[in-house]
Amino acid sequence: MTTTDSKPPTKNTHLLSWVDEIARLTKPERIVWCDGSEEERVRLTELAVQQGTLEPLNAEKLPGCYLHRSNPNDVARVENLTFICTPTKDEAGPTNNWMAPKDAYEKLGKLFDGSMKGRTMYVVPYVMGPVGSAMSKVGVEITDSVYVVLNMRTMTRMGSAALGMLGDSNDFNRGLHSTLDCNPDRRFICHFPQDNTIWSVGSGYGGNVLLGKKCLALRIGSYLGKKEGWLAEHMLILGVESPEGEMTYVAAAFPSACGKTNFAMMIPPKRFKGWKIWTVGDDIAWMRVGEDGRLYAINPEAGYFGVAPGTSYDSNPNAMRTISKNTLFTNVARTPDGDVWWEGKDGPVPPELIDWQGRPWNPKSTEKAAHPNARFTAPATNNPCISKFWDDPNGVPISAIIFGGRRATTIPLVMQAFSWVNGVFFGATLGSETTAAATGKVGVVRRDPFAMLPFCGYNMADYFAHWLSMQGKLVNPPKFFLVNWFRKGQNGKFLWPGFGENMRVLKWIVDRARLRVGGQETPFGWVPKAGDLDLSGLDIAPEQVDDATHIDLEEWKNELSSLNEFFDSLGPNMPKVLKLQRDLLLARIEAIQSQA
Ligand code: GTP
Ligand code: SPV
Ligand code: MN
Repeated sequence: MTTTDSKPPTKNTHLLSWVDEIARLTKPERIVWCDGSEEERVRLTELAVQQGTLEPLNAEKLPGCYLHRSNPNDVARVENLTFICTPTKDEAGPTNNWMAPKDAYEKLGKLFDGSMKGRTMYVVPYVMGPVGSAMSKVGVEITDSVYVVLNMRTMTRMGSAALGMLGDSNDFNRGLHSTLDCNPDRRFICHFPQDNTIWSVGSGYGGNVLLGKKCLALRIGSYLGKKEGWLAEHMLILGVESPEGEMTYVAAAFPSACGKTNFAMMIPPKRFKGWKIWTVGDDIAWMRVGEDGRLYAINPEAGYFGVAPGTSYDSNPNAMRTISKNTLFTNVARTPDGDVWWEGKDGPVPPELIDWQGRPWNPKSTEKAAHPNARFTAPATNNPCISKFWDDPNGVPISAIIFGGRRATTIPLVMQAFSWVNGVFFGATLGSETTAAATGKVGVVRRDPFAMLPFCGYNMADYFAHWLSMQGKLVNPPKFFLVNWFRKGQNGKFLWPGFGENMRVLKWIVDRARLRVGGQETPFGWVPKAGDLDLSGLDIAPEQVDDATHIDLEEWKNELSSLNEFFDSLGPNMPKVLKLQRDLLLARIEAIQSQA
């Protein structure tokens, strides 16, 4: 028999009957409706500590912070177990795994049947986006994981506010999650775009289970965006403030673990005295055309689920301040006195640690102390450089859209597209080396269009067409740029210092977007003219900057050659205009080479 803690805090009959239906399927011992209150946070945190799900950390060094160790078989998103369940396979397209909705409901239904027996079922109402904004969406996640509830609390506007926004409406995302026995053989993340429904089973990790994030805000979101005429993107949003107080907003798509959080919180180097970066969002942007014909972006999230390794006072001081309190750490190492540690953190390597799997570790150990995809979950309001518009229901107007990946070769430090179509081509052909954010081999270059390969909830070719069509709605469109912080020299080291120094590139981007600096035309796009990139006070050899910004025709020829196969793999809906872009660029190289 299922009992409910107290009277459900809503009269919404659609929600009540769905919760009832799910309770009959999963057969929990109790149902708890989450209200998002402080009392609830304290109670659930205590429970998680009792269960061993969370470990308290040093309350003086890290007030309100806890450590979670996930099952070692469950440390990242699982792209091979993630499915888009549209009525036809074509709608999901060739880049997604597909299951027929009926088959998926049946298969996962069997796994959910009785999955919460003897356990508590939490009902978690949440809003993605500012409460009350016309751009926001309501979701409800039903889960049997306290860890998920506590993370959702930080990552979304969770609880009563969401029920208030929902009212009597039936327009909410239905998310169902159960960790089961955390067995990879019984792990599936299924999306039903037509039903605005997500079923996730068998995992307890990040993007697999915090259903508001990648599942709703990107996979379902991109489908809704296509249907309703807006864009759901894997992009950070930041504001650049000049010393004169001029504010310019940019959005940037970099694949997972390729620098969004760092870029969104960057502190400009000394040379850029008076310049400030303000974070609107660090992972996801929802963008709509405003009444003035500009593109407006909101951050649907309320917290940061960020990569811990590599985060330090040296690389990202604002992130370090953000995670100094009220933060959940997942799969980091801990020191004997209850502090956290990961590879790339400041200071000397501690002589002894407990590693991410709970085993003793010392500097001679051959394995990493923290998992490479160890993460922090921190409230956005902890961020010292949070934009005052981060919660604005209208969003911020975007002047530039930046694409970037991890590329050891070919892609120069920065380049501007000639046009909207050329910009969509930059996005569509984005390549990047794979990272630890998803299971599978790390360091292999793959095409990751718009950094959305794992997150596009429908046919990728139709997604490109949607992007192309947006131009017609924009009177004042943003400009497009391609960047690469990760090009390597002969010695295998990064050529560009990155992090705060990326401000130098961003400054050029802002000036280009505002049409007040020149550029050099190349066959592929505009690049900074000699002297236009402010390099003063930068402590690296000029040849190194040359190598980072260099365009090599042979490398580009290879790049473009490989695109044919990629475009063909996207099927018959692949927009012709993007194929022509590729042919045009290749023809330009050939024209230059034939004269040489
Ligand atoms: P997701 O949360 O997975 O979407 O990742 P993200 O895109 O927010 O990446 P994040 O900013 O967390 O950076 C991932 C890794 O890249 C970290 O180890 C960073 O230290 C490293 N990184 C970020 N920016 C730079 C840069 O400019 N140069 C170099 N070399 N490394 C960087
Ligand atoms: C990503 O992988 O792009 C992330 C982390 O932001 S996760 O939430 O696990 O998807
Ligand atoms: Mn991400």
